[in-house]
Amino acid sequence: MNRITIAIDGFSSCGKSTLARQLAQHLGYAYIDSGAMYRAVALYVMENGLVKDGRLDLDGLLGQLDGIDIRFQHDPMTDKSATLLNGRNVESEIRTMDVSNHVTLVSPVPEVRAKLVRLQQALGLEKGVVMDGRDIGTVVFPDAEVKLFMTARPEVRAQRRYHELQMKGAAVSLAEVEANIRQRDLDDTTRKADPLTKAPDAVVIDNSDITAEEQFRKALDIVVDVLARVGQE
Ligand code: DC
Repeated sequence: MNRITIAIDGFSSCGKSTLARQLAQHLGYAYIDSGAMYRAVALYVMENGLVKDGRLDLDGLLGQLDGIDIRFQHDPMTDKSATLLNGRNVESEIRTMDVSNHVTLVSPVPEVRAKLVRLQQALGLEKGVVMDGRDIGTVVFPDAEVKLFMTARPEVRAQRRYHELQMKGAAVSLAEVEANIRQRDLDDTTRKADPLTKAPDAVVIDNSDITAEEQFRKALDIVVDVLARVGQE
């Protein structure tokens, strides 16, 4: 059977990774979380004195960029893929609010994007991948056979993310979470390098008022149609 590439883009905290994981598991494909890579670079600058008074030391980052090694490895403890930053498992550290607040310092840097896009393209070379992010259908895999663009109302996303963070025991307020989401929406859509935009051939899924199961069925129907089509080519 022909293997395809599935690109999932959309706003922060839209459930992209939940859907991407479900599809990958169902199809026996690899799931790749491109946001984890940007988060890992953010953690790197935070840990290496490259953020001063909330500002990025750009020259410092560019000087060290080649030495930042990011890869994924299966973690037998969680039975999930873990993000490694220079060989260290940073999977839980990159999910904190502190890292979320620093990502937009590094995600607009063209050199950072170029490095991570190259890595993402290499990971998708064999097809049979589901990758989620902001520029997957537009920049990373413009020829992806399936492109989904996910969205939901900001207040719905904030409530879901707040719930997730509470389950992890994080001491954050709903207002703080919603402010972070709105700021990232603005940064993602207005940055010069590879801003978040819907690819013309992407299918929009607004999940504000549907369940994860309904969303999965909707996406799977799209994938099955495309698989039937490419199977006949
Ligand atoms: O999907 P996420 O929230 O884990 O992504 C973290 C940040 O990385 C988010 O603020 C936007 C950025 N990002 C990006 O610029 N390009 C991508 N392909 C994926 C994420």
